[in-house]
Amino acid sequence: MTATAQPTDVAYRGPYGLSEEQELFKRTVHEFAEREIVPVAHDLDEKEEFPRATISKMAELGLLGLLVPDEYGGAGVSTLEYVLAMEEISWADASHSVVISVNNSLVCEPILRFGTSEQKRRFLPALAGGEYVGAYCLSEPTSGSDASNMSTMAVREGDHYVLNGTKSWITNGGESGVYLVYAVTDTSVARARGITAFLVPAETPGLRFGAKEKKLGIRASSTTQVFFEDCRVPHDLVLGNVDEGFRIAMATLDGGRIGIGAQALGIAQRAVDESMRYSKDREAFGHAIADFQGLQWRMADMATRIEAARLLIYRAARMKDAGTPFSQQASMAKLFASETAMFCAHAAVQMFGGYGFVRDYPVEKLFRDAKITEIYEGTSEIQRLVISRHLLRE
Ligand code: CAA
Repeated sequence: MTATAQPTDVAYRGPYGLSEEQELFKRTVHEFAEREIVPVAHDLDEKEEFPRATISKMAELGLLGLLVPDEYGGAGVSTLEYVLAMEEISWADASHSVVISVNNSLVCEPILRFGTSEQKRRFLPALAGGEYVGAYCLSEPTSGSDASNMSTMAVREGDHYVLNGTKSWITNGGESGVYLVYAVTDTSVARARGITAFLVPAETPGLRFGAKEKKLGIRASSTTQVFFEDCRVPHDLVLGNVDEGFRIAMATLDGGRIGIGAQALGIAQRAVDESMRYSKDREAFGHAIADFQGLQWRMADMATRIEAARLLIYRAARMKDAGTPFSQQASMAKLFASETAMFCAHAAVQMFGGYGFVRDYPVEKLFRDAKITEIYEGTSEIQRLVISRHLLRE
C-alpha cells in the first residue's frame, strides 16, 4: 500500500499549527517589543530600575491581563496566545516578561480559578488594566524547593487572620498592589494540608518590604523579601478553601511553568538571532566567521534545541487550553526550554568572543538573564522530580 496525500479541510498552518490570527498576534507583540522595549532594556538593566513606563504600555496592549476574560477587563486569550506573547516580550527583555508572567499566571489565574465573584471584581480589572501588578509569595528564607515546609503562620481571630512571617525572592515585591500569600493555618495535619492562600492588598498594615535584591540577571525586575508583622487579613480575602492553599500553589505553578518556558524560549531565540547576525558580519582569517563549520554546527544545535523547546511549550499550552492534565508536560517544557536558553546564551557569548563578555553587546545580558529560568518557578531539579513522579505513577 502506498501512502497518498489525503485532501483535508484543515488548511496547513505552518510548522507550529498557528492560525493566521495567532501569527499576526505574535508579530504584533514582537513589533511592540522591538519598538518599545529593546531601546530601554539595556539602560534599565544597568540602573536596576523597575520598568514602570513600559509596563503601562504593555497594559495598554492587554499583556497584563492576557488570560483574564473580557468581563474583567482582560484580553481573554488562550494559554497558547499567552505563551506567544511571553516568547516575544522575552526576546526583547526578560525583566519585562517576568512581570507579565507573574501577573497573568501566578496571580490572575488563581483568582479566576479559585476566587469568589467579589474577589474577581475587586482585583482582576486592576491587575489586567495595569492599575497595579500582583505578586506571588510562596518561598521563604529556608523553604524554596521544599515549598510546603513554610513557617509563615496565619492565626484566626474573629473574622480576620493574623499573618506573621517572611517571604523571600518575591518578584514585583514593593511594586505590587496585591500579594497572593501562602501561610500555615493548621499545624496538626500533614504540612501540605494545613496551608491557606490569602489575597493581601499592599496597603494592609503590617505588610513591609525588604531592599531590592542585587541580582545576576533580570536586574530591572524588582525582587524583595516581604514581611508580615501582625498583618490582619479579613476572612473574605482567603483565596479558595481554608487549608487547601498548597494545592492552589501547585496547580498555579503548573501553568506558570509553561510561561517561564516561553520566557526561556524568547531568550534562546534572541541569542541565536544575535549570533546569526554577528557571524555574517564578523570576519576572521579572511572569511565571515559564519563560513566556519565549527560555528555552523553550533548554530544548528542551537536552532534544533529551540525548535524542540518551542514544540514542547506550545504542546503544554494547548493541553492546558484543552483541559487535559498538563503538569508533566509543563515541567518538561520548562526544563528543556530553560536548559536551551542557557545552552544558546553560552554559545552566543563564545561566538562573540570578547564582545560577548562586555555589557555593550546584547549577549552578555542574555547569558545573565537565562540563568534564572533554571531556578524560579521550580528549579530544573524540581522539574525532573515532578516528571519522574508522573512516570513512576503511570
Ligand atoms: N496540582 C494540584 N495539586 C498538587 C500538585 C499539582 N500540580 N502537585 C502536588 N499537589 C498536591 C498533592 O496532591 C498533595 O495533596 P494531598 O496532600 O491532598 O495528597 C499535596 O499537593 C502535596 O504534594 P506532594 O506530596 O507532592 O508535595 P511535596 O512536599 O513532595 O512537594 C514539590 C512537591 C513538587 C517538590 C513542590 O514542593 C514544588 O513544586 N516545589 C518547588 C516550588 C516552586 O516551584 N517554587 C517557585 C516559587 S514561585 C516563583 O518562583 C515565582 C517567581 O518569582 C517568578
